[in-house]
Amino acid sequence: MSFGAGDKTQLDEIRTHYHNARAASVSVMRWVQRRDGYISDAALQDVAEYLELPASDLEGLATFYNLLFRKPVGNHVIKVCDSVSCWMCGYESVRDRLRNCLGIEYGDTTEDGEFTLLPVVCLGNCDNAPTLMINDDLYDRVSPDAVDSILKAVRGHGGDRG
Ligand code: FES
Repeated sequence: MSFGAGDKTQLDEIRTHYHNARAASVSVMRWVQRRDGYISDAALQDVAEYLELPASDLEGLATFYNLLFRKPVGNHVIKVCDSVSCWMCGYESVRDRLRNCLGIEYGDTTEDGEFTLLPVVCLGNCDNAPTLMINDDLYDRVSPDAVDSILKAVRGHGGDRG
């Protein structure tokens, strides 16, 4: 696999927003993720060649940056903040409701391919803890009782794994 001419046109446009290849790397990987749903090993190599950066550097970035996925995910990725404010405000009961409703654990995807459940560090929305992010949308002050309706609303929409 490699980037076609159309892909390169879009990637070149992304690169114009950054002063060097390294600075552009997360945005380029996010573009790949929007296209493929995740960043496969082959796609990581393509990005490395395109940016002329070591694949190992990109691997490190992709592993560190928790909005980049290195394995396939569901149509909707639920990120549960487990940092201090959300922890103090009862994120555990929200997490447990999500696990029960979806029948999966952290890191898993539902059998129908709809949802992936992941823990993340602070989402920068501490004033509204406990917080979830589903695809690119933040959910404030989530209670366990709100989980069912949130999942129902999200299930009816197409995915955007960012
Ligand atoms: S601690 Fe959860 S959003 Fe900051």
